Amino acid sequence: MSNEIVAQGTDGTNPLATSVGNINLKNPVMLASGTAGHGTELSPVIDLSSVGALVVKSLSAYEWEGNSAPRLHETPNGMINSIGLQGPGLPYWIEHILPKLIDAKITIILSIWGRTIEDYAVAADLCTDLPSAIEAVELNISCPNIEDRGKMFSHSPESTNEVIQATSQIKVPRWAKLSPNVTNLVEIASAAREAGADGVTLINTLMGMVIDIDKRRPLLGAGGGGLSGPAIRPVAIRSVFDVYQAMPDIPIVGVGGVASAKDVIEFLMAGASAVQIGSANFANPRISQKIITDLGKWCRDNEFESINAIKGLAHKP
Ligand SMILES: Cc1cc2nc3c(=O)[nH]c(=O)nc-3n(C[C@H](O)[C@H](O)[C@H](O)COP(=O)(O)O)c2cc1C
Repeated sequence: MSNEIVAQGTDGTNPLATSVGNINLKNPVMLASGTAGHGTELSPVIDLSSVGALVVKSLSAYEWEGNSAPRLHETPNGMINSIGLQGPGLPYWIEHILPKLIDAKITIILSIWGRTIEDYAVAADLCTDLPSAIEAVELNISCPNIEDRGKMFSHSPESTNEVIQATSQIKVPRWAKLSPNVTNLVEIASAAREAGADGVTLINTLMGMVIDIDKRRPLLGAGGGGLSGPAIRPVAIRSVFDVYQAMPDIPIVGVGGVASAKDVIEFLMAGASAVQIGSANFANPRISQKIITDLGKWCRDNEFESINAIKGLAHKP
């Protein structure tokens, strides 16, 4: 770990050390799925062992080519994407990419996705005997269920429940990554917990679209896409706040528009145990390092000996 970004308390302890459920992290700053590659792609730019964890881009049981171009577009205070979950598939990743992450001493959160409940079950079968460097598996259930007219799994409490149950053979903690595009997110988070999820990651992208007015058609190759970046932060904060208020015992990982240490503090005060940085990595791949340094400084300046004392503060009278 590079020394410059390890915050030190007066007694030599690390004030940024935290945990999500029973997973201990050196700091609460993770890199969000899909924004930092499948492996060590960012290693030439940052020390990946210095972040709380790297959440790898979601993988399915099989190779998947994703959507047609264009796949990314800048939007006011954010971006919209329709990558379509391109990836090499879990068997290839486990054999060829995972060893490099382990060699680099990176704390890994695996992320899996599928198009059917059976897809998740097969992916979970591939994840039953994982090396200890993989601390948790994030279940990306913000993707279309082809057996339910393309409705996202996390848009229904029943499908959410089914995915969590179908992946119960995974031995490490499972976090359900939920979509904000629902009427009642607390209901979905509750379904996830009842089915056995050990935590929830809030939020995935918001459904959006950009029209190319010269071509008179949607700009992205897939038509619609997922909106992310600072523009969605208040939606993500509200999601974390509401779920924490309803279920303060389920660990929450906050994600959506984090671009500074103050944004991290906001998520922690709303009730998150840790956060993930997504779109901000595209603007500045070193942003996580600055945020970790600034977090340590913020704690010192505001006389917090441990970052954990900040969690849920916005709920206190
Ligand atoms: C280009 C891109 C690709 C993404 N791919 C994935 C993915 O594979 N799996 C996933 O769970 N979320 C994916 N996401 C969603 C992010 O992990 C995150 O939830 C979302 O972007 C909100 O965070 P942000 O505003 O910090 O970007 C992707 C986001 C972007 C911008």
